[in-house]
Amino acid sequence: MNALPSHQTIRTRVLGTGHHVPDQVVTNADLAARMNTSHEWILKHTGIAQRRYVDSPVGSSGLGLEAARKALDNAQLSPSDIDLIIFATLSPDYFFPGSGVLLGAELGIPGVPALDVRNQCSGFVYGLQSADAMIRAGIYKRVLLVGAEVQSTGLDFSDEGRSVAVLFGDGAGAVVLGAGPADEGGIIHTILGADGRHADALICRVPSSRRFPAQITAETLASRDQYPQMNGRKVFKNAIRTMRDLCRQILADTGHSLDDISLIIPHQANLRISQLVQESLGVEPERFYNNIDRYGNTTAAALPIALDECRRTGRVDTGDKVLLVAFGSGFTWGAALMEL
Ligand code: UT7
Repeated sequence: MNALPSHQTIRTRVLGTGHHVPDQVVTNADLAARMNTSHEWILKHTGIAQRRYVDSPVGSSGLGLEAARKALDNAQLSPSDIDLIIFATLSPDYFFPGSGVLLGAELGIPGVPALDVRNQCSGFVYGLQSADAMIRAGIYKRVLLVGAEVQSTGLDFSDEGRSVAVLFGDGAGAVVLGAGPADEGGIIHTILGADGRHADALICRVPSSRRFPAQITAETLASRDQYPQMNGRKVFKNAIRTMRDLCRQILADTGHSLDDISLIIPHQANLRISQLVQESLGVEPERFYNNIDRYGNTTAAALPIALDECRRTGRVDTGDKVLLVAFGSGFTWGAALMEL
């Protein structure tokens, strides 16, 4: 359900943001040296010029840790001020336990609950709605919400996997959220949705509890099911329509118009998707943020990375209204409207 918050004396505020990407820059030319693709094709079809890849076994929790430290620093808080971790990723360190508990251990805050969110490109918005609800309900005071991905070690760099492999990158973003008075801005509204009938459109099938009698065998590895598989055209079309409709819905639900919004930050899936959403809404390009040229699609990390960049570069400021919108594997989708 996507009901508007009824009691508005308390709002969830963004107290700090941070992001971290690995140092290793991988250009389209680097990928063209590994498989049958080209800089021109990737740039024209996706808008991506480069992405970052890890160069050590750091895991999503390791990237998330760096982003979390920067977000805490930005909020002028320490790890002991956090009373809930929410960790969104499709590339967890382990099948289990989740990356959230690993992050808690690295931050040195044993005992703090950690919730893992598995909603792919929409994971950050899913985490944001949970954090917002729990903060407004008074269950937690300060929530660390992280979106982090290490995708590069799980991609198929053969010619067969090229349409997926060129899209994704590694990175992490984090926000620290806390309660504040309603008249000082904060999260205004969040909406979410999902339709698992389209699970096959973007899926990584292995490891899988559906495999019987064993999850991983020589046959499963030979089938290449350990790599993500995508119906690119289907995801592309649904992403445009859904993100456009989400923007319209959240504005209508909250009595805002597009003119009230300083910046729309779409999930960074493909520059063409972002541009078509922007054009279909009739918003000028300057009010649509894109950084996919530098990072590729970092899935659950894309929105918090972008939000942090925008805050640190002054692209957005206190009092600005920002709309985050996402769509991805599942299908899952979501939007969040906030006043900074
Ligand atoms: O957050 C959600 C995550 N995913 C997405 O948002 C992805 C959404 N989909 C897309 O971004 C696009 O569908 C892609 C970028 C994946 C593909 O672009 P497209 O314009 O839909 O290309 P296509 O799949 O229709 O392929 C066109 C051609 C094909 O060759 P033929 O059959 O015309 O000879 C592909 O084999 O481009 C070929 N191709 C490539 N060529 C060079 C596909 N991938 C590549 C590649 N390099 N990496």
